[in-house]
Amino acid sequence: MSEKTLRSQDWFGRSGKDGFIYRAWMKNQGIPDEEFRGKPVIGICNTWSELTPCNAHFRELAESVKKGVIAAGGFPLEFPVMSLGETLMKPTAMLYRNLASMDTEESIRANPMDGVVLLCGCDKTTPSLVMGAASVDLPTIVVSGGPMLTGKYEGRDIGTSDIWRFSDAVRSGQMSQQELTVAEACMCRSQGHCAPMGTASTMACMVESLGLSLPENAAIPAADSRRKVIAQLSGKRIVEMVKEDLRMSHVLTRKAFENAIIVNAAIGGSTNFVIHLLAIAGRIGVPLELADFDRISAGIPLIANLQPSGKHFMEDFYYAGGLPALMSSLHEKLHHDNLTVSGKSIKHNYESARIWNKDVIATLDEPFKKETGLVVLRGNLCADGAVMKPSAASPELLKHKGKAIVFENIEDFHSRIDDPTLPVDKDSVLVLKNVGPVGYPGMPEVGNMSLPKKLLAAGITDLVRISDGRMSGTGFGTVILHVSPEAARGGTLALVENGDLISLDVDARSLELLVPDMEIASRRSRWMASHPLASRGYVQLYQQHVTQAHEGADMDFLRGGSGDKVTRDSH
Ligand code: FES
Repeated sequence: MSEKTLRSQDWFGRSGKDGFIYRAWMKNQGIPDEEFRGKPVIGICNTWSELTPCNAHFRELAESVKKGVIAAGGFPLEFPVMSLGETLMKPTAMLYRNLASMDTEESIRANPMDGVVLLCGCDKTTPSLVMGAASVDLPTIVVSGGPMLTGKYEGRDIGTSDIWRFSDAVRSGQMSQQELTVAEACMCRSQGHCAPMGTASTMACMVESLGLSLPENAAIPAADSRRKVIAQLSGKRIVEMVKEDLRMSHVLTRKAFENAIIVNAAIGGSTNFVIHLLAIAGRIGVPLELADFDRISAGIPLIANLQPSGKHFMEDFYYAGGLPALMSSLHEKLHHDNLTVSGKSIKHNYESARIWNKDVIATLDEPFKKETGLVVLRGNLCADGAVMKPSAASPELLKHKGKAIVFENIEDFHSRIDDPTLPVDKDSVLVLKNVGPVGYPGMPEVGNMSLPKKLLAAGITDLVRISDGRMSGTGFGTVILHVSPEAARGGTLALVENGDLISLDVDARSLELLVPDMEIASRRSRWMASHPLASRGYVQLYQQHVTQAHEGADMDFLRGGSGDKVTRDSH
């Protein structure tokens, strides 16, 4: 690519007053004049924040990227975008995913960048940045922050999925509050994001299987020196990508999305994968539907033995060969010729990888579990679909009929779940309404509702649970999520009453409310929305424009992209 065709030269290559202004104010940072003379400008989009602990090491990571950019003859410029910390943000980080994507999109387009490095880590920071960047479609590469080292507590490995086990143990009196406090520091003992195959790790695998990162990016632990190496190599590579004009749309093809779905099934990835991949596809203009997830992942067994579907953690996954080894194991199921940011095909990225530990990464012939990672359910209770993860569910509940115990919202759930008079037993089906995109708003991760104390005390560890919300990628259980249409939009979920029979049949992919159609119609005619409505600001905009879960819960006006052109020029 010649100097003239660099996008950044429309700023830094100008003469006269405009060029003076563009360069002079940059020079206050001590940048020599030669940097502005035709070098590819690489934006490093940083979600560093001390309020996003999973991404708190990103300043260091950005320095490694810069070294690579400079070595390859580029000019790196780091910039912040809204950071979404899963643990601290209220009411839920998901409410702000679309806002962060808008920040990313507009920050990239408005500034003199030729290529972009996205620094992503905690759950929502990956999809929001990829969505925003996809709507601009410059050459873009993702560097993930990497998982934490595996937690160690009382001589055993622990990770985020143990939060639910510990919480239930405290509630049932098997663990003291003091022991719980000790476990906090034992779980999060290094920089990085959650250590199981939760949403953050799923997102890191998603970008690698889509071809948006260099091979091995998904699993290198944050604390491993090789994390800095891949950051530096990515910095080098993005400069070459600018010269090759290798844009996101060249990588994000339908085949790339299909590979990501196949890989997600094999790793037992988070249910959040569905909602984020749909949103990314919507931005880049690749047709993708909820039904594709079930159809494409059918017959793909679980070959990664990672929590919450299995036993190990991301650190083990990396030492066992990481995602390239898993993809080599999946070879016969994958598309092979997809172009990736490495400039090579996806097959080239994984074909020399080897599996070093078959207890962590298995083979297609001898998988850990036959069930695929995700199924899509249909029925009168979820006309536009619902998702569940059989690999993290109880096999005996995959075909089940039980009476509904209904909670109108999350506050109702918290106030009554441990009420000793609640008529709940091992066959009950817990139903939680108004935790969808519009109803909460923001679709929080509350779908894996805690079980009632009295059932825990009786040794019962799972129930069928249904909601229009989401579940943490580290959660587990027979949990049906993303029911669409949601209760707040008048879906049948809103009409379920205590004692109604509900039938789940995962093999038949069905979820039915066993109430006569006439009765459902009668209830619908009397139904009135009861969710809170924001009176101003971003949350009002969100409630007015967010799409349903089966469409990716993006804003309706954000689908597609506007490219990298700046339409007006005030100078
Ligand atoms: Fe950030 Fe789990 S809280 S990845």
